Amino acid sequence: MTLSEETLVELKEIAARYPEPRSGLLPMLHLVQSVEGRITPEGIEACAEILGITAADVSGVATFYTMYKRRPVGDYHVGVCTNTLCAVMGGDAIFERLQDHLGVGNDETTDDAPGLRSITLEHVECNAACDYAPVMMANWEFMDNMTPESAVQLVDDLRAGNEVRSTRGPRIVTWREAERVLAGFPDDLADDGPAAGPASLVGLGIARERGWTAPHPETDSGSGRTADTKQEAVEQADTARAETETKQEDSDA
Ligand code: FES
Repeated sequence: MTLSEETLVELKEIAARYPEPRSGLLPMLHLVQSVEGRITPEGIEACAEILGITAADVSGVATFYTMYKRRPVGDYHVGVCTNTLCAVMGGDAIFERLQDHLGVGNDETTDDAPGLRSITLEHVECNAACDYAPVMMANWEFMDNMTPESAVQLVDDLRAGNEVRSTRGPRIVTWREAERVLAGFPDDLADDGPAAGPASLVGLGIARERGWTAPHPETDSGSGRTADTKQEAVEQADTARAETETKQEDSDA
């Protein structure tokens, strides 16, 4: 497939966003995926030509990051976190159930079936969402606190074209549409759906309760904290830890 004139214009547009055009390579590769369903040799050549670097340079980046795919991705990319915490909380069981249910292995895509959309299944590493383990990702949107049953329901809904909403994000669009957003062309869904959930905000709540604030570059010297405020922070953290341990002991008793 040859890239369209419109895509080439958009690739140049991305490169022009940065003082160093090469900084645009990552979003450019996402744009290639949004139109071709994967990183193609044509996409690599186009990026290299626009940025004035070699195809080997581009290829080196495209093969380094796991979000860039050399094989075509289906209508939806479904990731199951099988990193340590999610794995022990059920991620391994979810992944096995989905492999059986979809009839595909890791990094494989379901066959085209009449009336059904295709799914690419992949086990993924920690998504920094361990507070909601076991976590899945649908086109990189969070699906929290999953079970084998809810995972099967998720992929069945996606395949059937039913509306699916992230537990901490917008409704799920297709993988190609999501790739276009990662290329820096918003779809106006950024504020659709909930953002951070309660478990992720516990630390913020404690900081507010205790009046803790982040260092301010104009009022704090050096590394962002004066020696006194650093000491205060350490003391406050020690006090908080001691209080938490006391509460824990009380509840254990
Ligand atoms: S281990 Fe799964 S999100 Fe961290």
